[in-house]
Amino acid sequence: MPLFYLMPLLRVPKIEVETHKVRSPDVVVPTLDTVRHESLLYTWLGEHKPMVLCGPPGSGKTMTLFSAFHALPDFEVVGLNVSSATTPELLLKRFDHYCEYKRTPNGVVMAPSQLGKWLFLFCDEINLPDLDKYGTQRVISFLRQIVEDGGFYRTSDHTWVTIERIQFVGACNPPTDWGRKPLSHRTLRATTQS
Ligand SMILES: Nc1ncnc2c1ncn2[C@@H]1O[C@H](COP(=O)(O)OP(=O)(O)O)[C@@H](O)[C@H]1O
Ligand SMILES: [Mg+2]
Repeated sequence: MPLFYLMPLLRVPKIEVETHKVRSPDVVVPTLDTVRHESLLYTWLGEHKPMVLCGPPGSGKTMTLFSAFHALPDFEVVGLNVSSATTPELLLKRFDHYCEYKRTPNGVVMAPSQLGKWLFLFCDEINLPDLDKYGTQRVISFLRQIVEDGGFYRTSDHTWVTIERIQFVGACNPPTDWGRKPLSHRTLRATTQS
């Protein structure tokens, strides 16, 4: 069903931008697209669905996501600007700043350090990582495992680590743009795309 049938009541609000805020980078001018996208994002974020936004450069993916994050309570955002050289090891180091490992009767669990809070892992430009000699984007495969299986194998002690209260959100340009690689179907099947 086309999405506009599902959102008949959305209206684009009129806003007055105060003069001192005109040059502020976090002012979002509401347009039909920003209103539609934010509404979808609140729903997906609220249901903790993993997702990837795809669109041409400058279409406001990063801007819309950050404004949606700021509007939600009890969340923390970890931004990761993915590059051609981003690896799973780097991603885990990033988690170390915000999460802690706990031993529980059900095994090792990694969860955000702040009790009850969810963590958004926002990976921007997610289709930049280079392919390795096997044709795999390691960091993307690692993320897919986290999303699909809910955890990962810690290489230091070969232990399965279950992940709790961490949600994955990504953004990327179309794979036809310079330097981008198509994400595998295996990865895309695990996420909601818009
Ligand atoms: N509706 C809007 N209101 C305010 N600024 C906007 C709007 N749409 C786009 N922009 C501007 O365009 C810039 C590019 O958006 P960005 O989120 O970086 O695009 P993308 O991540 O899709 O490449 C933003 O920094 C913002 O200043
Ligand atoms: Mg961007």
